[in-house]
Amino acid sequence: MKGKAIEILNDNWRGGFTIPCQGLYPFQWSWDSGFIAIGLAHFNMGRAKKEISTLFDAQWENGFLPHIVFHTESETYFPGPEYHRADLHPKSSKRSISTGMTQPPVTGFVLRELYRIAKDKEDILLFIEKVVDRVYANHAYFYEHRDPNNEGLVYIYHNWESGTDNSPLWDDIFASMGSPALSFQRKDTDQVDLSERPSKREYDHYLHIIEIAKRYNYDDKKIAEFSPFLVQDPLFNAMLIKSNQSLLDLYSMIGHNQEKIDQLIAWQEKSIKTFNEKLFDEELGAYVHYDLRNERPLKYVSSSSFSPLFAGIPGQKMADKMVRTLLDRFGGEDHYLCASFDRTNERFNPKQYWRGPVWINLNWMLYSGLKDYGFKDIAERVKNDSIEMIEKAGFYEYFDPRKEIYGKGTKGYGGNNFSWTAALIIDLLNKD
Ligand code: GLC
Repeated sequence: MKGKAIEILNDNWRGGFTIPCQGLYPFQWSWDSGFIAIGLAHFNMGRAKKEISTLFDAQWENGFLPHIVFHTESETYFPGPEYHRADLHPKSSKRSISTGMTQPPVTGFVLRELYRIAKDKEDILLFIEKVVDRVYANHAYFYEHRDPNNEGLVYIYHNWESGTDNSPLWDDIFASMGSPALSFQRKDTDQVDLSERPSKREYDHYLHIIEIAKRYNYDDKKIAEFSPFLVQDPLFNAMLIKSNQSLLDLYSMIGHNQEKIDQLIAWQEKSIKTFNEKLFDEELGAYVHYDLRNERPLKYVSSSSFSPLFAGIPGQKMADKMVRTLLDRFGGEDHYLCASFDRTNERFNPKQYWRGPVWINLNWMLYSGLKDYGFKDIAERVKNDSIEMIEKAGFYEYFDPRKEIYGKGTKGYGGNNFSWTAALIIDLLNKD
């Protein structure tokens, strides 16, 4: 299994960065790169470092890190750079072509993982010293520009920023947006069956939000004021908090940098406090998203709801509750953990992208989080389920949680030979 995973990562390497998979995603995606670097670190640390430095080469002058870096041209992806027009923003990178939106901030904890995995600790620390301020600048960007109410929680202005593109979570927001029906030529459905991808109507909404952001040249203040989509996402904020903690660890190892350490502690305290007060839903026993535009919680449980375990955010009692919710709404012996959306909800769809299928990056986080809180058995189940799905259905982008559908010739969904599936399984196989 590990051999095949390495082969996939080798095939998807483009001399400087790794594409998520061929055809469907032909560029560098930011949080993909982070997960990929963790896998690479196990067999080629030089490439893991390069993956991260290439990503940071595309960082904007204001610390912003774009979600896609368009290193090359491609005929197989829409919307491309000419649609996104990130250059409208005065601080966008003059060297790289990118989108004007971001993705969950994973780079802090990824550096910490590289340190954990590295055999030569001195060498990796030298690398980390070179790039760690880039991560800090990225976090400073978030707290300065994405937290209009100064709460310690940052917003995302597009569902693509969440990483969980077409989650049913967004349905209510989209319904309130009144997006026009647009005409465009998508490319994803040339490669993957529409039943596994977002609908045309959903794409209308995705593009409509970008149109509005472009109207304001991607100005954060204007976006906070006018974007119809403005959400405080527990997954996104948990990644930031986990990465803050990693920065604290790394700066302590490096020494000096007291001012940054003080600032990180202040961010951290405020963020965790508001996170627990505002996003934990007692009734559901899980964290939920908050729709900042319409000032209402989005009362649904998704795999994102459990990511705070990975960042050490809940107290033990809350964690106990969350695990009950996990088992009630996602568990059951006849299902693999962990579906991306509440199986008991009518919007659940086991085949369609983020509306139900299992994703390995969320499982990877869930495994660590559960272990940290003492739920060793369930953590093991998440790990074994991940391995089993890949063994039975291939190194796909996402997987059907229903065990009954697996048989001879069953395949996963979305793109095949998917990089983070390969990378994170290498890491999981190395963990006990
Ligand atoms: C899809 C996923 C997103 C990922 C991207 C590239 O858009 O939803 O999370 O980063 O593909 O793999």
